[in-house]
Amino acid sequence: MEEKIDRQKAWDALCKYNKSDALRKHGLAVEGAMRYFAKIYNEDEDVWGIIGLLHDIDYEMYPDEHCAKSQEIMKEEEFPDSYIRAVASHGYGIVNEIKPESNAEKVLYTIDELTGLIGATALMRPSKSVMDLEVKSVKKKFKTKGFAAGVDRNVILNGCNMIDMELDKVIENTILGMRTVAEDIGL
Ligand SMILES: [Fe+2]
Ligand SMILES: [Fe+2]
Repeated sequence: MEEKIDRQKAWDALCKYNKSDALRKHGLAVEGAMRYFAKIYNEDEDVWGIIGLLHDIDYEMYPDEHCAKSQEIMKEEEFPDSYIRAVASHGYGIVNEIKPESNAEKVLYTIDELTGLIGATALMRPSKSVMDLEVKSVKKKFKTKGFAAGVDRNVILNGCNMIDMELDKVIENTILGMRTVAEDIGL
């Protein structure tokens, strides 16, 4: 997974297939978290970031073929196979059987839905921001099943097992990653 992709190319591709501000911001949030984790793993921040940015590229147009259409789109847009696989693997056990294998794939699987929970928790605060958001607030909402009910807690917990990192630590690192792009994602 070493081939370098121009970030602008990835951003243009995301915007070509996603007109919704929410999905673009979700891509940016996941990119921020992925870049942060890449540093922890001492791996290539740009590769991880682009995988995060593009992970839901097919979702606006093909929600019923999520993680399948992305493979076609990314092939057409001439992204390398390693990026295509990494993006598709976040649907593991949900829409496909492409198991996360690389560190980037495992982390993407773990933090994708968590960024949604963190964003929703941040919006409950007076600041409506991740900048002063604490792990314990997110943990509390994690346990409140009715809150952001679309966020599958089991996927996040499976991910924590995959990467062998405590939930608290995963939440902390994801918040820190989202802080690096707070302005871009409106949080
Ligand atoms: Fe997705
Ligand atoms: Fe996502």
